[in-house]
Amino acid sequence: MIVSTELDQKGNLFPSKIVAFKKDIDTLYFSTKNDVILQLTVLRDSVLRFRYTTTGNFKKDFSYAITKYASKGYNHLEIVEEKNYYKVITSKLICNISKENLSVQLFDAKDNKLINQDEIGFHWEESYEYGGNIVKMSKVSQDGESYYGLGDKPEHLNLKGKRFQNWVTDSYSFKKGTDPIYKAIPFYIGLHHGKAYGIFFDNTFMSFFDFAHERRNVTSFWAQGGEMNYYFIYGPKMEDVVINYTDLTGKPHQLPPLWALGFHQCKWSYYPENKVKEIAKKFRDLKIPCDAIYLDIDYMEGFRCFTWNKEYFPNPKRMVKELAEDGFKTIAIIDPGIKFDKDYSIFQEGLKNDYFCKRADGEYMKGKVWPGECYFPDFTNPEVRDWWSGLFQELIEEIGIKGVWNDMNEPAVMEVPNKTFPDDVRHDYDGNPCSHRKAHNIYGMQMARATYHGLKKFTYPKRPFVITRAAYSGTQRYTSTWTGDNVANWEHLWIANVQAQRMAMSGFSFVGSDIGGFTEQPQGELFTRWIQLGIFHPFCRVHSSGDHGDQEPWAFDEDVTNIVRKFIELRYQLLPYLYTAFWDYLDQGIPILKSLVLYDQDDVHTHYRTDEFIFGDKILVCPILEPNAHGRRMYIPRGNWFNYWNNEVVKGGKEMWVDADIDSMPIFVKEGAIIPKYPIQQYVGEKTIEEIVLDIYYKEGKEQSKLFDDAHDGYDYKKGRYSFRTFKLIGKKKELIIQQHKEGKYITTYNTFKLNFHGLPFKIEKILLDNEEIPLSEIKMNDDSSMIIDKKFSVLHILGK
Ligand code: GLC
Repeated sequence: MIVSTELDQKGNLFPSKIVAFKKDIDTLYFSTKNDVILQLTVLRDSVLRFRYTTTGNFKKDFSYAITKYASKGYNHLEIVEEKNYYKVITSKLICNISKENLSVQLFDAKDNKLINQDEIGFHWEESYEYGGNIVKMSKVSQDGESYYGLGDKPEHLNLKGKRFQNWVTDSYSFKKGTDPIYKAIPFYIGLHHGKAYGIFFDNTFMSFFDFAHERRNVTSFWAQGGEMNYYFIYGPKMEDVVINYTDLTGKPHQLPPLWALGFHQCKWSYYPENKVKEIAKKFRDLKIPCDAIYLDIDYMEGFRCFTWNKEYFPNPKRMVKELAEDGFKTIAIIDPGIKFDKDYSIFQEGLKNDYFCKRADGEYMKGKVWPGECYFPDFTNPEVRDWWSGLFQELIEEIGIKGVWNDMNEPAVMEVPNKTFPDDVRHDYDGNPCSHRKAHNIYGMQMARATYHGLKKFTYPKRPFVITRAAYSGTQRYTSTWTGDNVANWEHLWIANVQAQRMAMSGFSFVGSDIGGFTEQPQGELFTRWIQLGIFHPFCRVHSSGDHGDQEPWAFDEDVTNIVRKFIELRYQLLPYLYTAFWDYLDQGIPILKSLVLYDQDDVHTHYRTDEFIFGDKILVCPILEPNAHGRRMYIPRGNWFNYWNNEVVKGGKEMWVDADIDSMPIFVKEGAIIPKYPIQQYVGEKTIEEIVLDIYYKEGKEQSKLFDDAHDGYDYKKGRYSFRTFKLIGKKKELIIQQHKEGKYITTYNTFKLNFHGLPFKIEKILLDNEEIPLSEIKMNDDSSMIIDKKFSVLHILGK
């Protein structure tokens, strides 16, 4: 045994004095006497990349996370050499780099306030076990600093005082505090003195974040290999931090088909065909809207991907077609493990072409998953991804499957203690061969990417729909996601709420939980409360493990069914609002769910709130998270809000009790908001939308709202065939003005708006439409609270007495 090696004794190593400085357009190189180089790239005025090497040379620069579409360019870049440090100045940031030891300080360029500062800063330890370095960074945790982000951590939204690990892990029945779980999103947001910044540590090795846990005034992060390579993203608005992080790691490559924002029903598993049909029919009979139904692993022949169990599903094409005729899109699961079976064509192809992962000594990576012994495609090899994409042709083009669900892609391996591949498994890593230590966290992402490309190709000219369980930063470009195998208990309802918010602020908005809980059996009350939350998550799916009974909306009692229907109907009414929020996410990177701190960081009361969130930009939601509740206390953010159910206006900036019996939940609408609504449909496209309801919430003052629409599928919107309306509301004591501005070439199917007024403080006397007076009788006034007008107006002027 080696007891004490030279390496052991070295411990932490640190950069020494800067001896050389070089500038190459937007990139600066600071070299130290002991061969450390800090490469500082100015991507934007508010986004700086810090990359360190300890060998005097950088290896090839490669990242799965950073998108080639990331915006680049800055307004200002100036470097000043001071006595003790270099000063890098952009229009947003000032970055000082110490000549003594490379340590970094970052200031707001406008007011010179300190935003972030290295404590020890970059240091490293040589890893004698694996070679390379354990790379470390420590920062000062500022007075009153709070921390957010990190993807799917099932913990309080504010991460202060805690330590986390990033290593994607199959986490059946995880709990509050279980760490790590399915996703690795090494991005956090710091907030102090009213200013927010983000740090994205783009390193795929197992990494750790410590938010003032080990030492009260230090926040640190480190990884077990690779480079110290992080992006510093300055706000000062938290929303801008998220927007810029999302810009860097990518927005979804296209809108989802609108149906994907409808309600989805899933179970492990619906089979045989009769069962699937029975479930679908029941939705229609009970008039509970539903767009998608899922086939979990039992549709396959012995869990072999891309096969069908012909006993259960004798004619999948016919079944899928019949379901489609009734408005159901069929979604099928595909896992990464390919059954070890010499007679199975996919296995043969993989073997013949050398597509499966191998161990360091050349043996195949063999592991047990649902089908028994499996080999696993190396999705980090572009050729393997191409092959994988091609495998979807039959499922999509021939059988008519509309979406694919990628699961177990951590990758999960059963009956082994570490639940995944051993470290020595080799990966191509897009031509940068490496071990599983480096590829583990992106394996699932690359599988989802390959699946996405297959779907994109074969569903064309329609849009693809993919769901993944494992993810690394950037996965949001390709797919939606769910939070994995949760449990049917009240704590998990809390977790689902926090996880969806956290994912949204980590750039991944298209997220939802297994509504009702995956393992164990929910009571009707829990199921109902979970549906109430779930309809406000961008991905809205009921799923359960199936070994404890049924979990359809009718599986409890009639009251539950009725309440669930009412809330799913609300989801369908709000589709144009959600679709517009999705557009904002896709177009600008604005998160669809906004935690209160993200919504109003200047109000310190929001910094530790977890339960309330803003859905889109105008609707405040707070789930009921306890049994037997008739309401709850919640925090209403600053501003005035209409109680959705009774139009009562409350003034925010305080905590208050809100009534919410089981058939209700706290929902508030921001005053001045204009909320677009569709009629209730049983599935997207059931009805041609001829009229959109605009719920108008009066405000004395100004507010802007938006409405995006297009063909709901396909790519025409990319050619400008969309319709994007902005409504500007100006409310005065006895007057309400709504100005409309329209962009885009799409001619919407609706021709009229039905305006519903909420809280109008006067009686309508006169209406001017584009400056022409309209007799009240002509626009079908209805006791002053609603009217129908042509969609083409520019200014609506309502005068009261
Ligand atoms: C995993 C998934 C779950 C799925 C099951 C069977 O546990 O997380 O959603 O139903 O595998 O495929």
